[in-house]
Amino acid sequence: MQRSIFLVLLFLMACKPESQDSLTILSPDEQIQINLELLQGLPHYSVSVDNKSLILPSSLGYSFRKQEDLNGPFTLTHYEIEEINENWVPVWGQEKLIHSHSNQAKVELQEINVPRRQLNLYFRVFNDGVAFRYEIPQQQGLDSLFIVAENTEFKFAEDAQTWWIPADYNSYEKIYTKSYLSGVVDSVHTPLTMVSEAGYFISLHEANLSNYASMTLRPAETDSLKLLSELVPWPDGDKVKTVLPMVSPWRTITIGRKATDLLESRMILNLNEPNRIDDVSWIKPMKYIGIWWGLHIGKQTWVQGDRHGATTENTKQYIDFAAANNIQGVLVEGWNHDWELYGQDEAFKFTKPYDDFNIEEITRYAADKNVVLIGHHETGGEAPFYDRQLEDAFAYCEKYGIPAVKSGYARTSIEPIGESHHGQWMVEHYRRVVETAAKYKVTLNVHEPVKPTGIERTWPHMMSREGGRGMEWNAWSEGNPPSHTTILPFTRLLAGPMDYTPGIFDLHYDQYKPDNRVHTTLAKQLALMVVLYSPLQMAADLIENYEDQPAFQFVRDLRIDWDETVYLEAEIGEQIAVARRDGDEWFLGAITNEKERELSIPLSKILNSDMIAECYVDGPGAQWEDNPYPIWIAAYQATVGDTLKVKLAAGGGLAIRFRSLISADQSLPSISNLRQDQLEKN
Ligand code: NOJ
Ligand code: CA
Repeated sequence: MQRSIFLVLLFLMACKPESQDSLTILSPDEQIQINLELLQGLPHYSVSVDNKSLILPSSLGYSFRKQEDLNGPFTLTHYEIEEINENWVPVWGQEKLIHSHSNQAKVELQEINVPRRQLNLYFRVFNDGVAFRYEIPQQQGLDSLFIVAENTEFKFAEDAQTWWIPADYNSYEKIYTKSYLSGVVDSVHTPLTMVSEAGYFISLHEANLSNYASMTLRPAETDSLKLLSELVPWPDGDKVKTVLPMVSPWRTITIGRKATDLLESRMILNLNEPNRIDDVSWIKPMKYIGIWWGLHIGKQTWVQGDRHGATTENTKQYIDFAAANNIQGVLVEGWNHDWELYGQDEAFKFTKPYDDFNIEEITRYAADKNVVLIGHHETGGEAPFYDRQLEDAFAYCEKYGIPAVKSGYARTSIEPIGESHHGQWMVEHYRRVVETAAKYKVTLNVHEPVKPTGIERTWPHMMSREGGRGMEWNAWSEGNPPSHTTILPFTRLLAGPMDYTPGIFDLHYDQYKPDNRVHTTLAKQLALMVVLYSPLQMAADLIENYEDQPAFQFVRDLRIDWDETVYLEAEIGEQIAVARRDGDEWFLGAITNEKERELSIPLSKILNSDMIAECYVDGPGAQWEDNPYPIWIAAYQATVGDTLKVKLAAGGGLAIRFRSLISADQSLPSISNLRQDQLEKN
């Protein structure tokens, strides 16, 4: 259970107001500072790191539909500063303990002129970034508000390389563009990742997106280094409809001096509220397989018919395979009525299985084999119809012992109401689903979601989501280039776990889709299962493609919930290597983009005793384009003093399981042989 082990709330006077109208707040290590000042009565914040300007004075405020804009002039009436220093234990995650240390200021502003409305600002300064949020307190004469613009600015002091996707209000499933900030032409989604000219690593995002619209970022017309918050609108143009008191999500600026700092930051989680679920025994990370990839490559269909995937017989085969291979869950898509009506009104029913899917028999069979069925709620973007079925849909899961559901909203808008996926109405819809699922003890994996903002700290059964361009695109489009997965950890995954669905072994599926393929080596598919963090991790291929595959042993052995994570290599869009420990075993995953490269990792960075390294690395001649399958699989002795030297093929990767030594391991060669073996042996 997530619990607060240690909490210190200390009122500080470390940060004195420099004058009536300005205030400085420092990070605990005093290296990052945020300044608030009122310029012509309008609040502006600026940020500096190591005494260098990162964000120049940028304004804060709101425009409303019915009232005057909340743009001052204000006066600073009161402020309080406190230090927050706590450790907390997540229910699952990349580590067992999370430290949160920041200085927080609550600043109260009041309009100088009648009607003297109040606006509060909260600032938090961590050692790994800054965050701020608005609060409009309850006050006389103001009950409800229609926000038409949140006027937050981010005015950067210098240009930066950025990795961005356009701000499509219904999709995050895009390929990233790398350009200078000054060259960003579209509005973009967050997380927006940047490396400034001075070499700082920055990620702009938001935390605790609740009862509000998602924030995108629009380049200012007049200043190529300035971004403006642009909230996703309701169909009538309002951005947020709210009653008072109102609090906005946190606007977050994660700051690092190296790329690994972004990966290690837990600021987004730290800005969310503690776990609200007392009994968390039902919230379980797991590996899963599913009747899924066959649907995307056209081997099977979601709709009932000759090639229907979700039959009782097929599902039992998947359950047998899971039981035999240390996989805990089986997802089944196309189990329910009425996929034939996709795109029409009231298409999907969540308590009505197709006739050839015997849910009683299947769930009994799964339970006997100690495997769970993962349910599927594809809404086709008909969220209001899903709302009407929610209670029944999750009660149905409870009745059949289905502890997890994958949902989907695959449509270019939310019908019939014309909302978009990332607007306030949908943010609230997704939350209704989260709250209903909690009531029935069902964990969630949401596809076509709103972006993660750390609410899994509060609702740990909201375990994973898509919200990015995943494996499925390789089934029916030009696919994801090798660099895509070397960008995702530094962008989308900074926001939270992603259900990318790696683990494809037949990279060409010529029998079904001769014109499509996966753009990696086989070894990289294993590596992705370690690199792309998700507490629900899919081995996505057809089970027949795993039969008699020695490489599948890695998937069998892979653990899924971590005590510790160590990032070993990190270059955005180039490469990443990560090691994760569960109890007495380490799992290491490393991937590269289109370039081959040599990896050299001192094992003392992770091991503190000698171990056996079971290695799955790109084999002789392997490279993603023409020869993706060669894989060298062998076990070696690894001592703490060894350096792991290994080649990553173009578009390749590696996966290693480190396990304890047993006496039979005495005859194994040293890991110093790996580099040579992978070039020569087959
Ligand atoms: C889109 C999801 O991302 C995919 O995983 C799912 O199979 C389809 N929708 C159908 O629900
Ligand atoms: Ca999708």
